[in-house]
Amino acid sequence: MADTQQDLRDRVRADYAAAARKVIDGGTGCCSGTGIEVDASFGAGLYQPEDHEELPAQALAASLGCGNPTAVAELRAGERVLDLGSGGGIDVLLSARRVGPTGKAYGLDMTEEMLALARTNAAKAGASNVEFLKGTIEAVPLPADSVDVTISNCVINLSTDKPAVFAEAFRTLVPGGRLGISDVVADDTLTPAERAERGGYAACIAGALSFAEYRGGLEAAGFTAIDITPTHAIADGLHAAIIKATKPTSAVSPAPPAATPTAATPCCGTGQAAEAAGSCCDPAAKADAVAAGTGCC
Ligand SMILES: C[S@@+](CC[C@H](N)C(=O)[O-])C[C@H]1O[C@@H](n2cnc3c(N)ncnc32)[C@H](O)[C@@H]1O
Repeated sequence: MADTQQDLRDRVRADYAAAARKVIDGGTGCCSGTGIEVDASFGAGLYQPEDHEELPAQALAASLGCGNPTAVAELRAGERVLDLGSGGGIDVLLSARRVGPTGKAYGLDMTEEMLALARTNAAKAGASNVEFLKGTIEAVPLPADSVDVTISNCVINLSTDKPAVFAEAFRTLVPGGRLGISDVVADDTLTPAERAERGGYAACIAGALSFAEYRGGLEAAGFTAIDITPTHAIADGLHAAIIKATKPTSAVSPAPPAATPTAATPCCGTGQAAEAAGSCCDPAAKADAVAAGTGCC
């Protein structure tokens, strides 16, 4: 029987939780015992020696990316950066250095063990302008137009709903904001079945988009100035690539997907995202909305 989207996401979460535990126990995030079979095309070897000097050992040990998005994102002092699928925090910590004390670097990850590791690494690095958020990259817990740059390192291929990821990246970037991603991308000639023959889903291979699919997905979300440049081979017909795109300055961000209020979550958003957006209702409005079964904000 084919895996459902939930099966795939659960497996990704379990494998990356195991990888985080391995690092906490003194190993590296790769590979045996985690279901993540990656080689030197991934990880800390893709960073410059000066990057290594800035980072706690466990941030490097947990590195499972396929590039160095901070090297291409051209971060500036004072900018707000969001890292989609931040893992052990390597790119958040590098971003935090680049944007300085007047800027901020957010990491977003769905795996509790990775978040715990990233927070420990941030404390070891003495980074005060970082915040790690629990959530999925398909429903980012930040308000619209709230970050200047979105980066991601070998995570979007793991998503079971890539159009939602691109839409959320677009929504949360300010107009004129930039996307700088490292990811695995397949040749346009490779079918999904051929991609899956070359590696597993949690190993960042089977879920890779082709070059045309990546470009089409970003265009559909509203991005412009899209550039996809392969950097190194990952497997036959699969490449690590740097993907850059821009949210046009004229863009109006779409509203986030409205949640249906229930007695348990009587707001149109949840948790930090709703609070940050100021979208939680006053108590009376919440009660009315739950009774009516409608949105309240
Ligand atoms: C290949 S690792 C990369 C981690 C980090 N970017 C790095 O370069 O080391 C993938 C990370 O993305 C997270 N992840 C995968 N799918 C996700 C999703 N749909 N939403 C949030 N996090 C996700 C995993 O928990 C894991 O920490």
